[in-house]
Amino acid sequence: MNNEDLLAMAEKVMQRSYSPYSDFKVGAAILAKNGEVYTGTNVENVSFGMTVCAERNSVFTAIGKGDKEFVRLALVTEAETMVPPCGACLQVLKEFADDLEVIIKWKNGCQTVTLKELLPMAFDYELKVGKK
Ligand code: THU
Repeated sequence: MNNEDLLAMAEKVMQRSYSPYSDFKVGAAILAKNGEVYTGTNVENVSFGMTVCAERNSVFTAIGKGDKEFVRLALVTEAETMVPPCGACLQVLKEFADDLEVIIKWKNGCQTVTLKELLPMAFDYELKVGKK
């Protein structure tokens, strides 16, 4: 799965975003170690705090399908500037992929960064040894 194809999947799911309150569409496609791809988009709610980001929806779908090892995430918005994942999503991504590569695409640009760069001092804890 090359970056262009992964970004295309993120872009496609971004079009299905349910974001009537922010009018900000986000699409995510996460590539598992075994080659499977899981997509997610942001889903908002009139009770704003119920909103779930695209990145977390993609990870949660993967977990439900039995995949929890990831190598790359493509993230697409229609923003004018680069939009990195929010802090909550970074922490969720870190749970499953210490060495994740994140490709971020916006209106007029694209940049690849690592999860470690985005979340250099992440919360971690010994209890995680039981996660597998
Ligand atoms: N959003 C995401 O989907 N991912 C992020 O990392 C940050 C924000 C969504 C949530 C909400 O639907 C909209 O973007 C505006 O915050």
